[in-house]
This record gives sequence, C-alpha cells and structure tokens, in this order.
Amino acid sequence: MKRVMNSETSQKIGEEVVIKGWVNVRRDMGKIIFLDMRDRSGIVQVVLVPSELSDRGKEVMESLRSEDCLAITGVVNKRGEKQINPNMATGEVEVLAKDIQVYNHAETPPFEVDGDTSAVSEELRLKYRYLDLRTERMKKNLEIRAKMITSFRKYLDDKGFLEIETPTLVKGTPEGAREYLVPSRQHPGKFYVLPQSPQQFKQLLMVAGMEKYYQIARCYRDEDARGDRQPEFTQLDLEMSFVDREDILEVLEGMMTEMVKEVVPDKKMTFKPFKILTYAESMEKYGTDKPDLREDKNDPNELAFAWIVDFPMFELNSQGQMTTAHHPFCMINPEDEELLDSEPLKVRADTWDLVLNGYEVSSGSIRIHKPEIQAKVFKTLGLSDEDVQEKFGHMLEAFKFGAPPHGGSAPGLDRLAMLLCNEPSIREVIAFPKTGDARDLLMGAPSELSTEQIAEANITIINK
Ligand code: AMO
Repeated sequence: MKRVMNSETSQKIGEEVVIKGWVNVRRDMGKIIFLDMRDRSGIVQVVLVPSELSDRGKEVMESLRSEDCLAITGVVNKRGEKQINPNMATGEVEVLAKDIQVYNHAETPPFEVDGDTSAVSEELRLKYRYLDLRTERMKKNLEIRAKMITSFRKYLDDKGFLEIETPTLVKGTPEGAREYLVPSRQHPGKFYVLPQSPQQFKQLLMVAGMEKYYQIARCYRDEDARGDRQPEFTQLDLEMSFVDREDILEVLEGMMTEMVKEVVPDKKMTFKPFKILTYAESMEKYGTDKPDLREDKNDPNELAFAWIVDFPMFELNSQGQMTTAHHPFCMINPEDEELLDSEPLKVRADTWDLVLNGYEVSSGSIRIHKPEIQAKVFKTLGLSDEDVQEKFGHMLEAFKFGAPPHGGSAPGLDRLAMLLCNEPSIREVIAFPKTGDARDLLMGAPSELSTEQIAEANITIINK
C-alpha cells in the first residue's frame, strides 16, 4: 500500500492507509495506547487497541518509545465531537492501527524533541543536530529558508538571469576578511583559498558577456562568529551589465517584495517603496549605518527594508591603515575623482547596503570597469605596482578587453532567513552551523590529520 503523509489523513476518512514516521509522544490509557506520529508534514494521532492489531503489532506495542521510527497500517476514523483537537491540523481524525512495523527503535534522546529546544544547551543541540532538526520550529525554519530561495530563483529566472557556478578553490578575493587556506598537493608550497565571495568571478562573467548572473554562493571568512556571522555562509550573489544603481535596486526590491508576499504573507512591510538614506544622513540621524526603522521596534512581524547609499570608498582600519569600506572594485563617484590623491577619505562610492530591522542584509555597488581607475584605487590603498600585478593583474587585464559597465549585489541568505523566522541568531536557520569558535560539534571539525596526509599536503605543523 502506498504511504500517505500525516497531513493527508484528514482527507482519507474510512480508508485504510500506511503512515510512516517517528513517535512524537506516547500516552498510555490502560490497555489502549495513543501515539502522536510525526512525519515531515505534521502529526496525526494513532490509537493502539490490542484486539485490532496484528500479532506482530501486539508484540511490539508495549515496547514503543518516543522517536522510534515506524510504519503503521490503520484505518482513518473521524474523532468523536468531544475528542476533536482544534489545535492540530489533523485534529478531527485518528488512525486506528491494524499493524505496526518497527524500522528502528530509538535510544532516549539527550533532550526532548516534541517541543521547542530554544532553552536546551546549544552545544548539546549542535552535537545532536539531527535530533534538534526533528523539532517543529527547526523544520519550519528550514522550510521558510528553502521557500525564500525558491522564490528568489524563480524571480531571477523570470527576469532572464542565468545561474552560473564559480569555483571555490580560488586565488583569493581580498575583501577584508581573513581567508581559509587550502594547501596544494601538486604544487608544494602553494595554496588555494576558499572564496570570501564570488566577487571577481562574477565581474569576469560580465566581461564574458553573461549580462545577468546569479548564484546561491557559499562564502568563507575566517573571522570570529557572532549571532549574525558564520565562518561559512550563503549569499544570493548577482551581477548585471549595462545598468546603473536604480536598475539594480529595482530588481532587488522587486525580488524582496515578491518573496515577502509569497513566503511570509503575514508580515507587514514598513516602506513600500523601500526608504532610501545616504550613508551621511543615516549616520547623522541614527548614529549607525544599519538603523532599525520599524515603527514598533518590538514587532517582529514588521519588516523595515531601507537602502543606505553613497558609502565612503575608503576608511581607516583599527591600525590606522587605509582600507575600502566595501571592496576595492566599487565605482567611485565621478565628482570625487579629484579627491583620490588629496583627500581619499572624502571620496564617495556608488555603493549601497540593504538594511532590515537593524541588520545589514545585503551590500552592493556599481563596479569600476576601467583599468586606469581601478589601478588608481589600488594605489590609494597603498599597494605597490608589483602587489597589484600579483594580486589583481588578471582583473586589470580583463578590463582591457571591452569590459562593460556593470554592478551587482549579494543579499546574505542566512540573515534574511533569521529575520523572516523571528530568530535571534543565524545558527537557527542553518541546518549544520558552527559554534562561535568555528567548531562543528557533530562531525568534530576541525580535526587532526594523519602524518601522511599532512606530508602529502606539503605542510609542516608548528605550534601544536
Ligand atoms: P559583503 O561582504 O557585504 O559583500 O557580504 C554581503 C552580505 O553577506 C552577508 N554576510 C554574512 N552573513 C553571515 N556570516 C558572515 N560572516 C557574513 N558576512 C557577510 C551579509 C552581507 O550584507 N561581494 C560583495 C557583494 C557585492 O558587492 O556584490 C560582498 O561579499 O548579509
């Protein structure tokens, strides 16, 4: 018999069905046992009455515990008026079991998974993430995340964007953060790095004439994790040619608005169209470049999207060195070009952030497509000609072959999903996240390697 999902049982009154899943809760009522059976679609109540059960059903009935994995054959019955549970999607029916097949018994889980695990120690939840993900809240979070990505994909596909994958063993995209290093076996002493973002590749795709690109891109940054940061995270990376800022913001705003409508229709958007503030205005008015502009700051169902535009091109880092506020590929405001030599900190860039409820959920910019301006920006950053050639020679060279004007953006999917799910941390919307100090508690990464593996990678470990 074909398996029926729990959520479908309400439509099968009077029929014999097979349901498959896990015991969410078991309740003993003397001779009769009630099981709440859970599958991905939800929960349905099963009644075990010995006289109705097959021999093997009778045999295993007493041994069933929470989280056992079972198949149950039974008849769907309408519940009596008084037994109806209005808080349950399948609360009007129950399955009277005829047969039980035990796929696997479960040991007592280290924490209960029939409710919300927010109060359980996070270390424990991450070690047993496959159990944590059995909970209703975590399943819902992953569902919302998946729906959000599907909605974005559909929107961009309809607008003629091409989904293209770019490499993740790369030469490095110096965008500010420390990189994860991958030693080369075939080229002793040389390393790949994991990309901080596909920034350079997507610009090269524009030089290649792809015009409208996107990718669900995994990015890696070796920095301390926080509530809204992970060492690996996901961007919806996109880039367009022959566009100006308005064209890109229009695509992003349309994509976000459509997604909110489709995925979280109960949420209300504060600004339609999104509010626009310059960086200078935002700093002056709110003292931050990621203001929370909700009318009611305590309302998680309010989404206050706003654009912050015209960031400075350069800023000084904590050591007083000149760095870029976004990255070195951002177009500078043509009016400020003369300031590059004299007062670089006053140069504005054609950049923007999308902020939502006090979080930066995306950044983006129009890019430099002229090699001479790009070279000037590198010079302002204090890079020598040799450094520029070594690190970015390929970009400057590519720009010499008819590079089109282009620009793009990269919404962070984890932060967006966190806000859609009303969660306090991006770890709640990532299936297998890392701890604050970048450990994977489930698999046990990072881990030591054998001497042979290390030798093969041509590296020596110092300071163990
Ligand atoms: P940026 O570095 O601003 O820009 O990243 C874009 C967006 O990615 C998200 N994000 C993160 N999310 C989780 N953990 C992290 N460690 C983390 N770091 C960043 C944020 C951020 O807004 N290549 C450019 C984009 C572009 O110019 O097109 C870039 O990577 O939501």
